[in-house]
Amino acid sequence: MMNNTANKPIYIRFLKSLSSLIPGDMLKTFIYLNGIHKVRKVLRTAILSFYRIEHIYEVIGDFSKNYRGNFSVLEFGVADGYSFTKMLYATRYLKCENRVTIHGFDSFEGMPKTDDSKDRDLIANDGWVEGQFKTDFEKLSEYCKGKYFNFVFHKGMFDKTITPDFLETLRTHLPILVWIDCDYYTSAKIVFERIKDYLPSGCVIYFDEPEFNYGCRYTGESRLIHEVNNGLFGDGIELVLDPSLSLTSNRIYRFININAKTVYDRVKNLNSAGELHRRSNDSPFP
Ligand SMILES: C[S@@+](CC[C@H](N)C(=O)[O-])C[C@H]1O[C@@H](n2cnc3c(N)ncnc32)[C@H](O)[C@@H]1O
Repeated sequence: MMNNTANKPIYIRFLKSLSSLIPGDMLKTFIYLNGIHKVRKVLRTAILSFYRIEHIYEVIGDFSKNYRGNFSVLEFGVADGYSFTKMLYATRYLKCENRVTIHGFDSFEGMPKTDDSKDRDLIANDGWVEGQFKTDFEKLSEYCKGKYFNFVFHKGMFDKTITPDFLETLRTHLPILVWIDCDYYTSAKIVFERIKDYLPSGCVIYFDEPEFNYGCRYTGESRLIHEVNNGLFGDGIELVLDPSLSLTSNRIYRFININAKTVYDRVKNLNSAGELHRRSNDSPFP
């Protein structure tokens, strides 16, 4: 039989040679798992994996630099303010505290009761429980007041706190980032139903738990994404995955509404009548 080792990728040839130097399957397996598999995994994770705080800086930085006006960031599910205060600090670091207001929505009573099967953990029936993430709102409020000014808390259930008056403020303080971290499909659905007509196209929507039930489209935030993209929230509305922000996750989307009433005001337009990409040389070089 012809030996086709020479045709194998260099990585496989290297492994074959290494394997021939190690005695016994037990030692080969130990060295492979600990010296190769783990190292590959650590490197992949370090380079490609998603860390949910990074995009806060990218999104707020981009909008505050490249677009005119005042903006809102909306967080649905604040709990003890872990991500909320990181977003506040980002506005300070990026020197846009005067232009960006962070709105935090939560009952602060923890997860509500639900009997809806669309909220259920299907893998081990080990879903969130009533009262989980309950927090001391007064303490959080004092902490934020002591350090920041550009925030508003909306305490209560979403169906009561996402009011028409609040939504009208989004006409002048355009939402740039919506942070959905309320875990349940039923909670996320209320949020989306209320805010969808107030979001400009291009607004970033971050979902914290789309991997719930391995991202199954019948439950959790994945169900909401699936429903939006199948027209259940209206024609012309889409959540488009943003791979440059999402990286290996499927957590960050750009909201698109072909009938959106408001648009962002870009500082420098990307298109002009005189634009032309002039020929250079014909090689692959630019
Ligand atoms: C996972 S926690 C939020 C975690 C937080 N973003 C963080 O970074 O630590 C989910 C929160 O959503 C809130 N929540 C869920 N459904 C809600 C609803 N319908 N109305 C108000 N709050 C809700 C709960 O009170 C809980 O604090």
